[in-house]
Amino acid sequence: MVVAPGGEALVIVANRLPVERADPASPWRTSPGGLVSALIPVLQRQPGVWVGWAGAADEDLDPFDFEGLSLQPVTLSATDIERYYEGFSNATLWPLYHDVTGEAVFERGWWEAYSRVNQRFAEAASRSAPPGSTVWVHDYQLQLVPALLRRARPDLRIGWFNHIPFPGYEIYARLPWRHQIVEGLLGADLLGFQRRDDAVNFLRAARRCAEVVTRGSVVEYGDRQIRVGAFPISVDTAALDALARDPTTRARARQIRHDLGDPEAVLLGVDRLDYTKGIINRLRAYSELLEEGAVGPPRTVLIQVASPSRDRVREYQLLREELETLVGRINGDYSSVGRPAIHYLHQSFPRDEMAALYLTADVMLVTPLKDGMNLVAKEYVACRSDESGVLVLSEFTGAVDDLRQAIVINPWDMDGTKEAIRQALNGGGAATRRRMRTMRNHIFTEDVHHWAAAFLGALELTVDRDPR
Ligand code: G6P
Repeated sequence: MVVAPGGEALVIVANRLPVERADPASPWRTSPGGLVSALIPVLQRQPGVWVGWAGAADEDLDPFDFEGLSLQPVTLSATDIERYYEGFSNATLWPLYHDVTGEAVFERGWWEAYSRVNQRFAEAASRSAPPGSTVWVHDYQLQLVPALLRRARPDLRIGWFNHIPFPGYEIYARLPWRHQIVEGLLGADLLGFQRRDDAVNFLRAARRCAEVVTRGSVVEYGDRQIRVGAFPISVDTAALDALARDPTTRARARQIRHDLGDPEAVLLGVDRLDYTKGIINRLRAYSELLEEGAVGPPRTVLIQVASPSRDRVREYQLLREELETLVGRINGDYSSVGRPAIHYLHQSFPRDEMAALYLTADVMLVTPLKDGMNLVAKEYVACRSDESGVLVLSEFTGAVDDLRQAIVINPWDMDGTKEAIRQALNGGGAATRRRMRTMRNHIFTEDVHHWAAAFLGALELTVDRDPR
C-alpha cells in the first residue's frame, strides 16, 4: 500500500483530472493518456485529492467525487486552452522534449499564458494541501508549479515527476524560457524522470541555466538540496492480468478474431494519434511487407488503433491527414472485399475492450520515434497470461529498459523493422514464451504501485519538515 509521507492525504496535481466529458450533458469518461491510466490505480489505494482540469473550456466546477476519487477542478478559459495547453505545452514543449520529432513553435504570448495557468494550479494545490502534507506535481505542463507552491507554502513536501523525456541540452537550450523552467522545477524537493538519461539531461540543464552545483544526483541550490532520480513508471499489472483472464474478455477476444475472419496472425498497434509514436514509419514498413507478399489478408491482418488527440494543434492535423492518406493507399492496394489489409480505428476504447484487443494480438507493434516510457507495451505484456505473443519495441522508448526480451528495433531503420515483424510472425516456440515470461515477471514486481512507493519513499527521505 502506498502511503504519503506522514500518512496524510496525498495531493496530486496534473494538467488533466482523470475524467472528462464532451459537454455538460455527457457522462464522465476516463481522460486519455498514460499519466491518467497510471495514477488512477495509485489514488484508488490511498486517500488523496486530485487537482486538475476537466477537459472543457470555461467550466467552473465545484469539487466532486468520482468512483472514490476526490477531484478539485481548475478552470481553463478558451484562451488558456489555446495558449497554455495547445500552444506552449503541446506545440512548444512536447515536440522539444521529444527530440523535435515534430516542429517546435515558440510564441511569446503562449509563455505568458503558461506562467499564468501554472500560478492558478499552484494556488489550487495550496488550497487543497493540509499543513505539512505532500504534493506530487506531474508532467511538462506544470513545471513552474513547484517553485510557485514553495513560495506560498514552505511547509509542504513537493515532488515532481516528468512522464515524458527530458531532452539533451543542445535541444533544451533552444527554449527562450529555459532559465525560468529550471528555476520552477528547482522548487521541488525531488524531481523524478523516467530514465537515467533524462535525469542526467536535467542535471546538465540545471548547471547551465541556474548556475548550481550538482553532486551526483543532488542539486545544491542556495540552502536547499534537490534530489533528482529515475523512477520508471509502470502499469497495474495484477489488475490487467485479472481483466485479461476474465471469461468475458476472453470471449470478446475470440469474437474479434472471428470478426477479422480468423486469420493466422493478428498484428496490433495502439497509440494516441501523435507524431512521436512512429505510426507512419510502422505502416510504411508493413506496406513493403504487403508488397513483397510476406503478409496480407486473409492470413495476416493489422489493427491500428489511433486514438484522437490534440486535434486542434496543427502538427496533429497534418499527421492525421498523412496517416489517413497512407492507410487509404495501403488498403486500396492490398485489401479484398470484406478483408482490409489494415483495420484503422480513429477511436478510444474502454479498458476491457483494450484488454480483448491485446489478447487478440499475436504481435504487438510499439515503434515510437521517442517516448518517455510507453505504457501500451507494458499493458500488452500484462495481458498475456498464457505467455504467448511477441512484442516489437522501439529502442527509443523508456519501456525498453524494462522489457529487454522484446524484439528491439530502430524505427528509422525500415529493413530492420521489416525483419523484426517477419521474425515476430515466425515466433511462437518455447523461446518466445520464455521471453514473455521474463518480461511478465519483471512488470509483476515493478508495477505502478512499486513506482509510486519508490517515488514517495524517496520524497519522504528528502526533508524533515515541521507541520505548521
Ligand atoms: C501523455 C502526457 C500526459 C497527457 C497525455 C494525453 O501521456 O504525458 O500528460 O495527459 O499524454 O495527452 P492530452 O494532451 O490529451 O492530455
